[in-house]
Amino acid sequence: MQTKQENAVGTRVLLGVCGGIAAYKACELTRRLKDAGAQVRVVMTNNAAQFVSATTFQALSGEVVRGEIWDPQAEAAMGHIELARWAQLIVVAPATANTIAKIAHGMADDLLTTLILASSAPLALAPAMNQQMFAAASVQENLATLKRRGSHILGPASGAQACGDVGAGRMLEAMEIIAILREKQLLSAAYPEQNWLGRTVVVTAGPTYEDLDPVRYLGNRSSGKMGFAIAQAAARAGAQVNLIAGPSALPTPAGVARIDVRDARSMHAQALELAPGSDVFIAAAAVADYRPAQQSLQKIKKSTDDLVLELVKNPDIVADVAKRVRSLPKPPLMVGFAAETESVLENARSKRERKGLDFIAANHVGPGKGMETADNALVLIGAETEIDLGQADKDELAGLLLSALYPHLRPKL
Ligand code: PMT
Repeated sequence: MQTKQENAVGTRVLLGVCGGIAAYKACELTRRLKDAGAQVRVVMTNNAAQFVSATTFQALSGEVVRGEIWDPQAEAAMGHIELARWAQLIVVAPATANTIAKIAHGMADDLLTTLILASSAPLALAPAMNQQMFAAASVQENLATLKRRGSHILGPASGAQACGDVGAGRMLEAMEIIAILREKQLLSAAYPEQNWLGRTVVVTAGPTYEDLDPVRYLGNRSSGKMGFAIAQAAARAGAQVNLIAGPSALPTPAGVARIDVRDARSMHAQALELAPGSDVFIAAAAVADYRPAQQSLQKIKKSTDDLVLELVKNPDIVADVAKRVRSLPKPPLMVGFAAETESVLENARSKRERKGLDFIAANHVGPGKGMETADNALVLIGAETEIDLGQADKDELAGLLLSALYPHLRPKL
């Protein structure tokens, strides 16, 4: 019997493909898993074969594709119990409502569900179905059951669906699945992915301090952790990173070029200079919207009972950068953050549009997540897709964020 230890890091991946229109994405997933250093064996359900042929998966995986449990030839080469033992990780993508229900109820009426029952390997499912089906109470309960038993549910993403509906139910992209598997340490890290090599990323981080006099300023509670974590993750993935940092005590991540600034106007100037030559601009800074109209050269004296401060608006850095790069032949992917305490998704969606951004990370700020904390909770919102990256520590979320953005990078010129 295999132990959990042996299963902990998957390089032998059994990919289960079910019958849904997203089956075509499983082809890309096979290729990407191979690129990531995994050995991939594909098992298709009968319905999957209606969408993609076994020959395609065979060519991509370089392995015989299995579909039937009653195939004497295949069983002679490797019996289904052996195949179940071989797997260090089982990924079902796309996972249909039908197969999810069968797994949740312990059914074993085809090769894939039989293998899942017979294997002790971790199980990850990437649901893909019509949004109404995904919202159905039975599907949600089955997913909750599987989650409770330790299965990993990857996605789905929201957006326009092949059937014309809009909502949650789209299978995640191959690179998003791989990134999550890596983050969860289900996929071997023996082949570190350097997929950001040759890319330039500009990140703004931390607060801005708007000076009032030589000893006082207006600021906020941003620590810089989120932006620094993104810069670190991008550098580790091979990117060249410029980090425009407001006042922060954090050390500079290895391999990152740090540009220290104090106030919004100096961050604005640096961002406008660095963004046009980059592939991605990520605005994680908590920029002060207003600054004192006048900055006193001397310390303001306590001479009156009331003191009224006049404030003027600061430039909107990310919106100005988006405007500036729009006409470039290869504009950077523009990504903002929206720290919100209420109506998080609605506010973030309208902020994304107002500022002319490709994506915005809706940031649910509250006790234990957001500013000054180790953890955060993000939903990445684009024009056509929304991905819940969940609540996690900022280093993990930074990796997930980059992986979710990766498929949207513009092709290298
Ligand atoms: O630094 P930490 O302690 O780790 O906290 C992280 C964070 C909570 C600060 C970060 O994850 C975050 O959410 N940053 C955005 C904070 C915010 O409130 O943004 P906003 O809603 O004011 O602005 C929306 C977007 O416009 C942001 O990308 C912001 O950087 C940008 N902006 C805002 C105002 C301005 N004048 N210029 C800007 O570029």
